[in-house]
Amino acid sequence: MYTATQTKELQHLTSAALQNPDNTAITILKEILRFHEYRYYILNDPLISDAEYDNLYKQLEKFEKNDPTLITPDSPTQRVGSSLNNAFVTIQHLVPMLSLENSYNVADLLDWDRKAKELTGLETVEYCIEPKFDGASISLIYENDLLSRGATRGDGVEGEEITNNIKQIKSVPLSAKFSEYGIDQIEIRGEVLINKNNFKKYNDQLTEQNLPPLANPRNAAAGSLRMKDPKEVGKRNLEAFLYHVSYITGNRQLATGNKQPTTHYGMLEMLWQLGFKSPIKEMTVVKGIDGVINYVQAFEAKRDGLPYEIDGMVIKVNELALQDKMGMTTHHPRWAIAYKFKARQATSKLLKVEFQVGRTGSITPVAKIEPVPIGGVTVSSISLFNEDVVREKDLRIGDTVLVERAGDVIPYIVKPLTELRSGTEEAIIFPKKCPVCHDELYKPEDEAVWRCININCEAQVVERIIHFVSKDAMDIKSFGEANVRKFYELGLLKDIPGIYTLDFEAVAKLEGFGKKSIDNLQLAVEASKSQPLHRLIFALGIRYVGETTAKTLANAVSKLTDFADYTEEQLQALDDVGVKVSASIYRFFRNEDNLKMLEKLEQLGISLTNTKKKEHEASTTFAGKSFLFTGTLTQLKRSEAEAMVEDKGGNILGGVSSKLNYLIVGADAGSKLEKAKKIPTINILTEEDFLKMLSN
Ligand code: IVH
Repeated sequence: MYTATQTKELQHLTSAALQNPDNTAITILKEILRFHEYRYYILNDPLISDAEYDNLYKQLEKFEKNDPTLITPDSPTQRVGSSLNNAFVTIQHLVPMLSLENSYNVADLLDWDRKAKELTGLETVEYCIEPKFDGASISLIYENDLLSRGATRGDGVEGEEITNNIKQIKSVPLSAKFSEYGIDQIEIRGEVLINKNNFKKYNDQLTEQNLPPLANPRNAAAGSLRMKDPKEVGKRNLEAFLYHVSYITGNRQLATGNKQPTTHYGMLEMLWQLGFKSPIKEMTVVKGIDGVINYVQAFEAKRDGLPYEIDGMVIKVNELALQDKMGMTTHHPRWAIAYKFKARQATSKLLKVEFQVGRTGSITPVAKIEPVPIGGVTVSSISLFNEDVVREKDLRIGDTVLVERAGDVIPYIVKPLTELRSGTEEAIIFPKKCPVCHDELYKPEDEAVWRCININCEAQVVERIIHFVSKDAMDIKSFGEANVRKFYELGLLKDIPGIYTLDFEAVAKLEGFGKKSIDNLQLAVEASKSQPLHRLIFALGIRYVGETTAKTLANAVSKLTDFADYTEEQLQALDDVGVKVSASIYRFFRNEDNLKMLEKLEQLGISLTNTKKKEHEASTTFAGKSFLFTGTLTQLKRSEAEAMVEDKGGNILGGVSSKLNYLIVGADAGSKLEKAKKIPTINILTEEDFLKMLSN
């Protein structure tokens, strides 16, 4: 899409564009932003940091705000629509979105090749082979080089118009120079996906909020496309692979000689050249079916290592003229076939449901099924998340259930096969009492989970210790879940501080603990004492406090116990701390037992202080003063300014609260400034003032 020379020119023009925001400069700035989006979202190879990109983006926003006549529909700022999708409008696809015929083995492929040879009259047919993406299919229309419509597949003839949501997918260009190929209007088909990594992150967030995770990336992608708020769609980090051109108008002869492609491969190459994510790197062209068989089998072996889910390969006749010759049935084209990989679904029997107590007291129903191998792993235990999920699926003990396990995704029950019921299946009864401590269970009104609220419930204590030592928390390597359970059962470990007073001599007498493992254990425990504060906060397992919030909290104070004096309002002034989260943190630090535990941990040598801050405080000028930057700074980068404050011993706070001493306001400051104006003790400074203060 861009050559190395063009890239250099663009980089060079960046500073010119920023200094002189006339019409051409803004066009260049837009190009630069598009270029960096392309590097990031299409090539996965960014040339600048997120913060640098954000700075450029904010510049463009500013220029466009000053002179709205400069806004073009394909400006990078125009992805973010403000209006909600109230109802999705039904649209007609320009060409019906047909499905694909399926094949499952070599014999099926040989059979299909025989038919292809018959229909084309050729001895050997040239095929393109590409992944069969397992997401939600979409169609895009570009008219006069602009994205004019995005739609879901629907029933293939009619779909729903979802342009605003499609615009949130950064790998979909808002404009593309189809005119250079003599094309006026084009309809493209593709698949929207959420990659495995982003899917996991999203599900982790849901679990953190006690919401049931989404079943699989396919459902997550399909659901995301139909969300009301386009901004929420943006947060899901969707991507789109475009794999088929279904309709083209315009066929002008061009002086540039850029001719329209005559093969499927050529079409995908054109899309790639124009900045689309087409599967050019994942596909191959072969002559004859033998090459197809080799390629699909080799790809199946790589399936688990791919960053996204695929459920097979698609084989297409390469020559477009031959595709036309072969035609289609009412259901599928004859020139293409899907080769499906081994299923990751299986059926099994639901034997019983157990109820597990989590570290926050949540009661999770867990299905025990007859062990069944799926995709190389034997599955026997499946979380059912909460009562609502069980009720919605109408699961019963004794049911034959359809189980799916996709790649790294945790296995889940798709549905019971109700047609196989014999009538002897039994309802799943939810306990009224905690299965471990037998206290009465309780269900908060706005939640789907039942809870044991006995903070001393043994199950919770053990789960809290397991969480404390886990990898993302204090990372006490040799401890692990199994050891925590064992030590607890033997009475060697009763609570979190007990980790640091563990009787290693007693442990050494246990079976399986040699000198080396005891040494490792001791070292790991010792090393954890100097973990950064945010890890300790996360390790405490305060409800709703995930790793991000833990970092915000760690940055807000010099010592963890400072939170004992925070009001809920002060907590809410921190970034991303809402009412629910602040209430939970507040409760944690007002609980005597928790404060005692922190005191004990400190006595045992665990640092409760934000060491980075401590080092500076005694020696330098901003000691004990807190700062926050908001809006766009013009002379300094935000990160530089923050580092300057910290170098002088000051603190950077996560949000506006009465603890804040200085708010430094850049261009286009928003809600933080408004909030700060209401707190008289906060000094509001410009960037200039701040620089002066530094030099004094
Ligand atoms: S071609 C007219 N290529 O699989 C032919 N489809 O099971 C249009 N799919 O409806 C389809 N990856 O949503 C094609 N590389 C690929 C694909 C692909 C995934 C989806 C598509 C289709 C479904 C059929």
